[in-house]
Amino acid sequence: MLTRSYKSFRAFLSPARAIATMKWHIWKMPALWVSFRNIEVHVTPGTAVPNRASSLFASFLVSMIRERKARSLLEIGAGSGAIGLACKDETQLGGVTLLDISPCAVESMQKTLLRYPDSAVDVILSDGLNEVKKAYDLIVSNPPHGDAPAHTIYHRRGNDPGWSLHRRLFGEAHRHLTAEGRLVLFENGSPGYSTPEMFASILEGSPLEIERVVYLTPTEYIWYVMVLRVRDSI
Ligand SMILES: C[S@@+](CC[C@H](N)C(=O)[O-])C[C@H]1O[C@@H](n2cnc3c(N)ncnc32)[C@H](O)[C@@H]1O
Repeated sequence: MLTRSYKSFRAFLSPARAIATMKWHIWKMPALWVSFRNIEVHVTPGTAVPNRASSLFASFLVSMIRERKARSLLEIGAGSGAIGLACKDETQLGGVTLLDISPCAVESMQKTLLRYPDSAVDVILSDGLNEVKKAYDLIVSNPPHGDAPAHTIYHRRGNDPGWSLHRRLFGEAHRHLTAEGRLVLFENGSPGYSTPEMFASILEGSPLEIERVVYLTPTEYIWYVMVLRVRDSI
């Protein structure tokens, strides 16, 4: 527990988050623009601030999109929208949909799109896949990484109580994937968070299975990506 709190504290101290928090608490500035790769995204204190881990995942996705020649991408829990927008900016992607359960995040994404108008990018307020109507080549997420309780939408930035969002994605994502589509999740494998084995046991009996796990660990955290595909048997 102590280790986990310490790690959360270190994450809290990322430079972008420190500036956002100072502006909010000291100068009462309600929002700011944060640089992420080639773009600037709007964040408020209620929006997850994209960090080095978000960029690590974006790099993985850019390679995967190029290799697979993916044309469409849905980002679940997009927060500021930084990852999905960077993927759109750096690849041949046609359409991108960014969704989040948090109205603050949706408002931030809409403000960012005023700066980068792109008719191929949609933003939706949705709890998981509830409001999603289309199918995509890639469904991606840097989701909440722990399974602790979440008493408010704000807590859902880091907590997925009982892994409920993950369980719903494992049970429903196949309906929104194109024929060769993949679900790609970025996870924290540090002690107290998750392991691919734990998710494999949750996935038993689900329409999806783990195709491969890739560890991306140049930082003090253990970050890994799970690529999931639809089982042949469904
Ligand atoms: C770890 S943050 C990642 C934000 C962003 N993708 C990034 O990397 O900067 C997780 C995001 O998932 C969102 N979220 C949590 N539960 C959700 C749900 N049930 N449906 C949609 N979004 C959810 C949170 O609001 C938060 O923006």
